[in-house]
Amino acid sequence: MSAKSDQYELLRKQIASLTEGETDRTANLANTAAAIHEAFGFWWTGFYLVQERQLVLGPFQGPVACTRIPFGKGVCGTAWERRETVIVPDVEEFPGHIACSSASRSEIVVPLFRDGEVLGVLDIDSRELATFDEEDAAGLEAIAALLTDRI
Ligand code: SME
Repeated sequence: MSAKSDQYELLRKQIASLTEGETDRTANLANTAAAIHEAFGFWWTGFYLVQERQLVLGPFQGPVACTRIPFGKGVCGTAWERRETVIVPDVEEFPGHIACSSASRSEIVVPLFRDGEVLGVLDIDSRELATFDEEDAAGLEAIAALLTDRI
């Protein structure tokens, strides 16, 4: 395993312990966003939650962000529509990317599932190009799976 995979595994354990026994969705999402953000020093780390046919901004760390994203729009809405993780090495190359912050250069969005339904997405932005790869996807998907019955 690489150092990054090890770091994600430690982070998953930390988040498992932080959220254990806590049933409040906001509390668990807020601590998860903070733990991920601090561990890697990302530019923006947070959640959007499905409400009817939109993603609505949830707990996050970083600069202020767009509050609502329609199904299929932007990287977040695309991950929701495709029901899979989307890695964007260069946001300027992603058609329809929603620029909440002009400083963001690359992005990863991981859907959160429960019983086959997308509950929301975990969205992370970086100020560097090509920050995210398959190891980030695997690490963040493991964290998303852990959250399923804690939000
Ligand atoms: N860039 C995202 C919007 C959310 S912000 O990055 C926090 C998108 O294209 O869906």
